[in-house]
Amino acid sequence: MEFTACKGLHGEITIPGDKSISHRAVMFGALSEGTTEVTNFLQGADCLSTIACFRAMGIDIENTKERILIHGKGLHGLSAPTCTLDTGNSGTTTRLISGILAGQSFPVTLNGDASIQKRPMRRIMEPLQMMGADITSVKGNDCAPLSIQPAKLHGIHYTSKVASAQVKSAILLAGLYADGQTSVTEPVLSRNHSELMLNYFGATVKSEGTTATILPQPKLTGQKVCVPGDISSAAYFIAAACIVPNSELLIQNVGINPTRDGIIRVAKEMGADITFLNAVTDRGEPTADLLVRSSTLHGITIGGEIIPTLIDELPIIAIMAAFADGTTIIKDAAELKVKESDRIAVMTDNLSRMGCDITATDDGMIITGGKPLHGAVIDSHLDHRIAMSFAIASLASEGTTTIQGEECVNISYPTFYEDLNRLKQ
Ligand code: S3P
Repeated sequence: MEFTACKGLHGEITIPGDKSISHRAVMFGALSEGTTEVTNFLQGADCLSTIACFRAMGIDIENTKERILIHGKGLHGLSAPTCTLDTGNSGTTTRLISGILAGQSFPVTLNGDASIQKRPMRRIMEPLQMMGADITSVKGNDCAPLSIQPAKLHGIHYTSKVASAQVKSAILLAGLYADGQTSVTEPVLSRNHSELMLNYFGATVKSEGTTATILPQPKLTGQKVCVPGDISSAAYFIAAACIVPNSELLIQNVGINPTRDGIIRVAKEMGADITFLNAVTDRGEPTADLLVRSSTLHGITIGGEIIPTLIDELPIIAIMAAFADGTTIIKDAAELKVKESDRIAVMTDNLSRMGCDITATDDGMIITGGKPLHGAVIDSHLDHRIAMSFAIASLASEGTTTIQGEECVNISYPTFYEDLNRLKQ
């Protein structure tokens, strides 16, 4: 698909539902007694993979697009799937479901696409094995496909080397089935949607600093969940409004949970003109409308505790850095190498093709911005966040940008290109 510069972005946009929260609503609903009703569910391929996995384990899930109804069967109500569970491109599905499956009374194999089969699974296998789980990598390479056999689980205290909500959540979900309390300490706090939503569904999860503790649970109860707009999707429009001259966008209903809002903090530090409107909090998840105007950005250093709060936004932050005056240093972000693609290598390669001064480091990137960028052929590596980042970069670059594999935006934002085109002048 080809992209060219535009004269400005104007109007209002309501961002689709949060991917992390949509996954969790389906999973926790399936394990609950009674029906869970989810509105503003993200109809992206990743969340549809989660629905398909639970349907394959006997859960009746109605998807009318307006809402999702999950007819939960309780903590012990899943049934053995008749074939390998397909987690598609979704790390969240693969890792969180593994925690749930570790506590079931039936064996299962799960696998995903080529990208999932390269992503590290030792990080969940190790703690789950410490809890007594029988989980192995079928090919012995610590990646999917994974085989999980029935086992008795016991509570542990696990100290994780990585700040990862997927690791934390897998352990907490296995903890629902353990015979004692289970806790996870992470080096830096990662997104806390599991802790908030599990409590809402009737579990007992306590959070203290970077430690989350869950008690074994007799039952969860179905709830109504209204999913906030995904700040990770809003990030593309925040960046677009900032870097394209003569822009003003009202981005509505954006989830601004403090474990996710690093993009806003960083954008403001870079000089972004962002105003918060209509802030409300529903069941621990705050949302607001964001009014963003064209801004003069400058480079900053991004590292340390803020990194997990903006880990998925670092590709679009790199684009903002390319349009900012001065140098931006992104560090402490080695996790970028094990996302849907190696986002350090892929951002460095593609931004260089557009004429940007960018260097890859072991744990991030150094970008000196301010030089005009020109169109180029961009290889998305079928990574949705790479494709969306370069669609935004093209709006403020000379000439034509061609994005290969652009359809991968379906993973997290199926209507991304339509929404973007509607706002262009
Ligand atoms: C997610 C956690 C993050 C994030 C991913 C979604 C989640 O991954 O990058 O897109 O829903 O828990 P890690 O836990 O691997 O950091």
